[in-house]
Amino acid sequence: MEPALLAWFAEHGRDLPWRRTRDPYAILVSEVMLQQTQVERVIPRYLEWLERWPSAEALAAAPPAEAIRAWQGLGYNRRALNLHRAARRIAAEGWPDDLTELPGVGPYTAAAIANFALGGDVLPVDTNVSRVQERTGHRFSPAAAQALMDLGATVCLARIPRCGICALASGCPSRGRRYEALRKQSRYEGSFRQRRAQTLRLVAESELPLGDLDREAVQSLARDGLVQLAPGGTKVTLPGSC
Ligand code: ADE
Repeated sequence: MEPALLAWFAEHGRDLPWRRTRDPYAILVSEVMLQQTQVERVIPRYLEWLERWPSAEALAAAPPAEAIRAWQGLGYNRRALNLHRAARRIAAEGWPDDLTELPGVGPYTAAAIANFALGGDVLPVDTNVSRVQERTGHRFSPAAAQALMDLGATVCLARIPRCGICALASGCPSRGRRYEALRKQSRYEGSFRQRRAQTLRLVAESELPLGDLDREAVQSLARDGLVQLAPGGTKVTLPGSC
């Protein structure tokens, strides 16, 4: 089954910018962005980020506030802060043997960096990879990682898989099955997550008095280290410049 997958990928695989590098820092940036943001939205932001901060050292030298500002619009802003902290750790101590020691790097992201950048023999299993393995009943090798991601993202779709064009269909026990609608994502409109994002956007634009802001959102952002109260406790700013 794997040769059929790799042959399909050679012809139909997506040309994504992070597939043109084996630089672990670039892969780290791409994978953190891709954790909760769609590929099409990530591509331009990934390219801009690497142009601005081409290495962990470059990112580490920037104030965290700049990383948070540059992240605006990608969502889940804690990722920006974690990425910045990871860069500082890498710049100071080098890459750890255990990549999950880096802030914001869980087992999946660690496996992705190991595979895509370091040639490691591990398969990063995200939801797409997991779905293809479950449906086909096949365990693919680490060499099939990118191909599995593309098949899962473009053919073996969660709800209505496109079995008619799937290179694995002839040997797939799940061929032709339909799947229930997935759990709906909870509404973003009116959510606390939205209030946090709006508040962070305001603070990123200019230093503001606490009284002008959503206090609960500020408290939550401050707990995550995304904003801080200036000494005196009335002005809210992005985290300091050193
Ligand atoms: N999603 C997470 N990592 C990815 C990658 N390397 N390529 C495409 N989609 C992804």
